Amino acid sequence: MKLNTIHLGNCIEIISQEMEANSIDLIFADPPYNLSGKSLDLVNNQTGGAFYKVNEDWDTWTPENYLLFTQQWITQAWHVLKPSGSLYISCTFHSIAEIITTAKNIGFKLNNILTWYKTNAMPSITKRTFTHATEYVCWFVKGKKWKFNYQAVKQFNPSLTKDNQLKQMRDFLNFIELPIVQGAERLHGKNGRALHPTQKPEKLLELILIASSNEGDIVLDPFFGTGTTGVVAQKLKRHWIGIESNTGYYDMAIKRLFELEKERIGD
Ligand SMILES: C[S@@+](CC[C@H](N)C(=O)[O-])C[C@H]1O[C@@H](n2cnc3c(N)ncnc32)[C@H](O)[C@@H]1O
Repeated sequence: MKLNTIHLGNCIEIISQEMEANSIDLIFADPPYNLSGKSLDLVNNQTGGAFYKVNEDWDTWTPENYLLFTQQWITQAWHVLKPSGSLYISCTFHSIAEIITTAKNIGFKLNNILTWYKTNAMPSITKRTFTHATEYVCWFVKGKKWKFNYQAVKQFNPSLTKDNQLKQMRDFLNFIELPIVQGAERLHGKNGRALHPTQKPEKLLELILIASSNEGDIVLDPFFGTGTTGVVAQKLKRHWIGIESNTGYYDMAIKRLFELEKERIGD
C-alpha cells in the first residue's frame, strides 16, 4: 500500500482488502467513542435545548453495533500488525471495557494504559457527576518483542536531576498532562469554530511514536480525522498511512499535510 498517503474509505474494508498482513510497526487508533446522540438534561438549563458535547453521525451506535464494529476493526489491526508491533487505542471510560475485552479476546496483551489528564476540560455542567477530565490510551502488543524506547521517552519527564540531566521514569508515570488542543494548533474554520470535534494533541502522538517506533517505521492511523498522526509521523521521520471515511475530514487532512510539506521545503 502506498505510504505517506491518506486513503478515503472504511478502514475495515481498506485494511482487509488492500493491506498486507504483518506489515505495520505501530497503529494509533482514535476510533469513535460512541458518545454522540445522548443529550444531557441540564438542571437549571436556561437555553431550553439539549446540550451535546460531540454529536456526530460517525460517533452514534447502538451498544451491540458498537461492539461488533470494535471487534471488526481490532481484528483487522491484528492482521496487519507485525509481531513486534504495538496498537495504541484512545478511549474514555465509556468504551474502555469493550476495547480491552475485545483486544484481549483477539490475542493482544495489554501493556499499559496511559492517562491523559486534560488540564482545560469542560466543567461538570450537569453538576451531577465529577468532571470528566481524563482520556485513556490503551497500549496493546501482539508478541513479546515489542519496541519501547525508554531513553527517548525520558525526555517527556518534566523534572530533571540536580545536574540538569534527564531523570529516570520513576516520576514520569503512565500519565500525561496536556490541554485539549486549542490556539494555533487547533484547525479552525472561517467562522472561528473548530473544524473537527476531536482533534488530538500532537504532543500525545509524539510520546506514542517516540516510545513505540523508530525512524523509517510504518505507522497506521485507521481513523485519521485531521491527520494528527500523519503530521507527527512526518516530523519524526516515520512513514505513515492514514484512513478516513469522511470526505470533509479527508480534504482537511490533505490540506494540513500539504501545508506541513510546504513549510518543510521552505515555500
Ligand atoms: C475520533 S476521530 C479521530 C480524530 C483524529 N485523531 C485527529 O486528531 O484529528 C475519528 C475519525 O474516524 C473517522 N471514522 C469513523 N469511522 C470510520 C471508519 N469505519 N473508517 C475510517 N474512518 C472512520 C471519523 O470520520 C473521524 O474523523
